[in-house]
Amino acid sequence: MHRLTRLVALVGLGCGLLGCEKSAPTATGGAAPPARQVVVGFSQIGAESGWRAAETGSILAEAKKRGVELKFADGQGKQANQVQAIEQFVAQGVDAIILAPVVGTGWDAPLAKAKRAGIPVVLVDRAVETDPSNYATLIQSDHVEAGRAVARWLIEKTGGKAVVVQLEGTVGSGPAIDRKKGFEEVIATAPGITILRSQSGDFKKMTGKQVMEGIIRAEKGAFTAVYAHNDDMALGAIQALQEAGLSPGEKVLVMSIDGGREAFEAMVAGTLNCVMECNPLLGPPAFDAIEAIRAGAAVPKSISQTDRLFDRSEAAAALPSRAY
Ligand code: AHR
Repeated sequence: MHRLTRLVALVGLGCGLLGCEKSAPTATGGAAPPARQVVVGFSQIGAESGWRAAETGSILAEAKKRGVELKFADGQGKQANQVQAIEQFVAQGVDAIILAPVVGTGWDAPLAKAKRAGIPVVLVDRAVETDPSNYATLIQSDHVEAGRAVARWLIEKTGGKAVVVQLEGTVGSGPAIDRKKGFEEVIATAPGITILRSQSGDFKKMTGKQVMEGIIRAEKGAFTAVYAHNDDMALGAIQALQEAGLSPGEKVLVMSIDGGREAFEAMVAGTLNCVMECNPLLGPPAFDAIEAIRAGAAVPKSISQTDRLFDRSEAAAALPSRAY
């Protein structure tokens, strides 16, 4: 089977509330036919970050808990693979599709195909630009607000004086666009803060490190803060700063979004200054939505997650209870 279109079917143990269609009693009072297991296709972006692995784990675990058969397709970071997976799910006649879209555009045709087939699509963690009737609901954090929160923290910590390097997420992805927009909107109100360089690290640790190394070489350390659009790039940047003797967390402030355990450990170690949460545990709300849709209940077009910002002074107390 082709590597890029490989679908892994994970069969749950029993049938939960969502897991099986109810079998109606027969007109003659005979035994009802066996219930059919509900089948959901999940098109995941890939495994670019710790956050992504946590989201995949949450959706797989929730499917199993509810007795749903989950068809998992790893897009390996490529939109073409995700489009192919959606087309395959439609051809297989799944009951619903969960899609974490790598970028925001180019989804009209596959989503319209799912709609024509009567298959509801639940978008998770990233928005798409398409006719809203092409999907059932979007479950995500408020990425614009996350960028704003980090900018407000920076202004407060520095008294409004900083030279910032911004490590952006995947080009064309909803969170990269929104986290940049929110951050720059608030930074524009602080005349003493400039954004020296802004470059994509693709949400990956190694790429974040390499991009940071290049910026350190080019700018000779002439910056005082790094804003990374996710934990992985922040952790990569911290390594690069350490190797260049630029003491992250002290000489250079480092700010991040996601809030995974590694980021909290870095805050406890003193190399990361603050982190804005982005909850990856989207399995429960995604399957709640599918359950509601299948029951004919109204589902909001947009379901927002509640997140908060942590300063490193709060990290030690918060670390033991971090769920991802
Ligand atoms: O879409 C959510 C973002 O994607 C997370 O912040 C990042 O870590 C991931 O790769």
